[in-house]
Amino acid sequence: MKHLVAPSLLSADFGKLQKEIEMVNQSQADWFHLDVMDGVFVPNISFGFPVIKYIKEHALKPLDVHLMITQPERYIKDFRKAGADILSIHYEATTHLHRSVYAIKEEGMQAGVVLNPHTPVDMLVDIIKDVDMVLLMSVNPGFGGQSFIENTYHKIAIMKEMILKAGSNTLIEIDGGVSTKNASKLVETGADVLVAGNAVFRSDDPMGTIGALKNL
Ligand code: DX5
Ligand code: ZN
Repeated sequence: MKHLVAPSLLSADFGKLQKEIEMVNQSQADWFHLDVMDGVFVPNISFGFPVIKYIKEHALKPLDVHLMITQPERYIKDFRKAGADILSIHYEATTHLHRSVYAIKEEGMQAGVVLNPHTPVDMLVDIIKDVDMVLLMSVNPGFGGQSFIENTYHKIAIMKEMILKAGSNTLIEIDGGVSTKNASKLVETGADVLVAGNAVFRSDDPMGTIGALKNL
């Protein structure tokens, strides 16, 4: 499978959100990546349901929603109603991960589990077959525009091995500090989905940068 590209709207210009959505629609991007932050799990607050609903009305591609909120299981139905297609929750934010993953699937969404940079991938060995996607954070979550953490390559390699050993189709998504400089190495190491915020929306040619991330 060719890797997927998911631009993160966190770095978009919200004053012209409709234009930014149309740009992603017309680009070679595969998904919209939406970062929801509660100011508790991470030291930042982003956006919630009304914004996601608005994006859903204009987006022609699936919404990949990354929840950086504590006890995300409280809001699974609401994110489905708002328009999420893929819903990812942090391993560090929910006590009953297995139950939460199945609650996401029961709502008809793909279930993703996110690991912070310090969380070993081994923590997922007993749930990997149940998960549609693993998101490995390559920065500490909370902000766009941070530097990529190099240890991520090591985590991707171990994760890939675990997935192959389990005979699972779980995708590996990488989020944080992704750019045209490290994208090839990430995909060669085993990444299936690349999220990019600043690299896309702060570039002179966002649509061209999405194309460059897709055609490595
Ligand atoms: C960070 C978010 C990311 C962020 C990535 O907490 O999860 O999705 O938007 O931004 P860049 O690509 O600029 O590091
Ligand atoms: Zn994200």
